[in-house]
Amino acid sequence: MLQTAIEAARRAGRNIAERYPGERKLTVKGYRDLVTDADIAAEEVIIDLIQARFPDHAILSEEAGGSEISSGYTWVVDPLDGTTNYAHHHPVFAVSIGVLQDGNPLMGVIHDPLRDQTFVTHRGGGAWLNDIPIHASRVANLGNAMLGLDWGHSNEMRKRILFYLQQIVPYCGTLRVLGSAALAMAYVAAGWLDAYFQLGLKPWDTAAGMLMVTEAGGRCSTLKGKVHRVNLPRCLATNGLIHDELLTAMHGNDKRDPNS
Ligand code: IPD
Ligand code: CA
Ligand code: CA
Repeated sequence: MLQTAIEAARRAGRNIAERYPGERKLTVKGYRDLVTDADIAAEEVIIDLIQARFPDHAILSEEAGGSEISSGYTWVVDPLDGTTNYAHHHPVFAVSIGVLQDGNPLMGVIHDPLRDQTFVTHRGGGAWLNDIPIHASRVANLGNAMLGLDWGHSNEMRKRILFYLQQIVPYCGTLRVLGSAALAMAYVAAGWLDAYFQLGLKPWDTAAGMLMVTEAGGRCSTLKGKVHRVNLPRCLATNGLIHDELLTAMHGNDKRDPNS
């Protein structure tokens, strides 16, 4: 199954990368929510391969829809995570494929086709980048941390994020907005970001990334510090070491002097 997930992600990635320099066919799916011809083409490649190898498994994919998350194996597919970047020719996007067993993450692949970086994980087996083990960072305080976030689509969500930013920006090292939730979680797993949070995640954004982070020694929770599950929209993924400090700061309970 893991070999199939890797093969599917790489085949889809090749397809996306080949189309990258050309014109896009854009469709507006919702408010600030786009889909391109590359999303659809990559999705077909992935679904065809999974169905050919595992005809009995359920598939939930962003554009094609499909099964609910249920008992047994469910493949959860984001054929192109970072569509807005892709639509702008901004070179940050990935293919994400996670497999759930009875609703819990079992394995995952996040593939960045432009950099040829394939992040792979399976439960109990650690996390890997192009066959080399990866580990979440060892940054132990918010003041030295590089944080990642994404804006999400709705204005309401963005206002909430601005509230969190007011709480944490005075205390953190620095902050990046990547535009691909899956890649950001892979970066937390690789130690290239110390934390990432988002308020509007879908199962296909996190099915692979959540496991990647925990298998790399990091931690995922809701923004209230509860156990995160793939069907929950709000997630904080960190290296584990700054998790509690960041949660406290986000909720405005931090009494430190921002000028200190
Ligand atoms: C989006 C990206 C983006 C995040 C959005 C997602 P898509 O996925 O992960 O970073 O902010 O919430 O919907 O639509 O590009 O697959
Ligand atoms: Ca996505
Ligand atoms: Ca997508």
